[in-house]
Parts: sequence; structure tokens; C-alpha cells
Amino acid sequence: MERSLSMELVRVTEAAALSSARWMGRGKKDEADDAATSAMRDVFDTIPMKGTVVIGEGEMDEAPMLYIGEKLGTGYGPRVDVAVDPLEGTNIVASGSWNALAVLAVADHGNLLHAPDMYMEKIAVGPEAVGKIDINAPTIDNLRAVAQAKNKDIEDVTAVILDRPRHAKVIQEIREAGARIKLISDGDVAAAINTAFENTGVDILFGSGGAPEGVIAAVALKCLGGEIQAKLLPQNDEELQRCHEMGIEDVDKVLHMEDLVKGDDAIFAATGVTDGELLQGVRFTGTSGTTHSVVMRAKSGTVRFIDGTHSLKKKPDLVIKP
Ligand code: FBP
Repeated sequence: MERSLSMELVRVTEAAALSSARWMGRGKKDEADDAATSAMRDVFDTIPMKGTVVIGEGEMDEAPMLYIGEKLGTGYGPRVDVAVDPLEGTNIVASGSWNALAVLAVADHGNLLHAPDMYMEKIAVGPEAVGKIDINAPTIDNLRAVAQAKNKDIEDVTAVILDRPRHAKVIQEIREAGARIKLISDGDVAAAINTAFENTGVDILFGSGGAPEGVIAAVALKCLGGEIQAKLLPQNDEELQRCHEMGIEDVDKVLHMEDLVKGDDAIFAATGVTDGELLQGVRFTGTSGTTHSVVMRAKSGTVRFIDGTHSLKKKPDLVIKP
């Protein structure tokens, strides 16, 4: 992949964030998602690549844009797999809460797991604890491992987990172990990434969330030198069948980094839609919109934070107004 592709891709997440941010707090998650999707789709047309969506807004018959199999880019440049989540945290934007992101991940063709839209159990950590966690181990063992790797007591470890009834047991286990917990309403991509940044205050992600989000988070953690382990959680025969069609016969199989994103190169880009621990959300000044993004590349390990000020006078179409 071309090095310059990373910088181009930030324009895609910036556009999605600017458009969906207009819907912040308006209680309309689908409209916020549509705005992000359509803005993202428009800018993709200008990106020099031969891309194919492998994780997107759904199958061709259910999503008008950014559907699985859709071709993206100018048609010139590297042949890549593209994973998108134009608005990660639709409810977050609807309620004006924390950590909604516009995100995408790109890897050489054939290198991203084509994760179906089903639940996935995940455990994720930053670089210090790589190689120390085990998704099949008891919760307390993973907390102890992270505490040891980060040279602190278990009481100083903070676990982040989606606040869902299905997580009652693991939340109980974390509490019994004495660790701290950050319960989040939505957004486990941001939560997984945050484990790799000390200043976000979280050390380990537990729990299940979307499988597509798991692959996107894996690309980010690959760039950051962190780790995610995962297991698909099919809920019915149809989902089980989808796992088999993907070539995953044993659904208890632990998916490691190399299963989720192969090879040594991949690019991840995200722009904050609402404020979060890592990225500030979009602000509107009246004449401009400001964005805060992160873009990173696995091959080089470069992580860039990019602030953008976008003139809405010169580019009135950049933000699709509600
Ligand atoms: P959406 O942006 O599609 O609403 O997803 C938000 C999210 O919280 C993800 O971050 C997470 O992986 C998934 O939903 C969890 O699903 P559920 O809400 O069913 O527990």
C-alpha cells in the first residue's frame, strides 16, 4: 500500500464525522448513520485505490451504500480490502453521549477477516500486556496478567465493558477480583483502542460486541502493537451456517490477531463524532467545522493525530444538514 493512502483516508472519516455530528442529540440514530454513510461513500470516490468493502453496512440487498462487495476508490492504486463503520455508536450520537467515531480500516486484498454481522466475544489490551492474556482463562487470571505486565496492583487495573445484562457474570468476576470497571453504553471499538493509550485510563476490554467492530478494532490494535483475541458467538443455526461458510468450522476457535487481520500492513483511520477519551468530537463554529482524527499504519507503526478545520463556506456540501 502507498504510504500516502493513510492521509487520503482521513478525509473519508472526517467527512463522515462532520455529517453525522449534525445529528448529535437529536434522538435519530438512523439519520445520523445515513448521513455518515453517504458522506463517507462520496469521499471514497476520490481515493486512489481499488477497494472492495468486506465489512460494511450490510449485504447488497439491504444496504444502498457501502455494502459488502461494493467497489470503492478511483480504480487506480493498490488492491485493498476495506472495512467501514461510518458511524460507530449510532445511539451515542442520538443521545449526544461519549465516544462515537467514524472509522475505517484498510488492508491488502485478502487480509481482513470477512466477519459476519453477529456477536463476538473479545478481550483486548495495549502493548505492555501483549502475549499475557487468554480469552479462555478465568477473568481474574487476565486481570492479574495485565496488572503484572503494567507493574501495578489488580485494584489499579480498569476494565472496560459494555453495560449489558449478558455481561453480568464477567462484571461480577471483575468486581470480586477487586479491579475497577468502566461500564460503557456503546462503542467497543473506541474502548478496545483506548486500552493502548495510557491517558485514556483503561487497561483491558472484556465482553461481547459486534464481530465487524472486532475486526476493525484488531486493525487499530495491530497498528498500535496491542492485542485482541476473539471468538464468534453465533446465536442461531443461520449464524452458525454463516460461520461455516466463512471456513470457520469450530466456532469455539480463538481468533488471534493474524486471523483477524493478516500480514504486516494495514491502515486504520478514525475521526471523533462526539467527545471521547482519545478523540474530541466535531465542533461547529458557524463558518467551519473542526475535526480530531487518528490515523495509523501497521507497517511503520506511525500514529498521527490530525486536527482539521473545514470551511463550510468554501465547501457547503461537506456537511449534509438535517
Ligand atoms: P452501532 O453503532 O451499530 O449502534 O453499534 C454500537 C455498538 O455498541 C458497538 O460498539 C458494539 O460492538 C455493539 O453495538 C454491541 O451490540 P449490542 O448493542 O447489541 O450489545
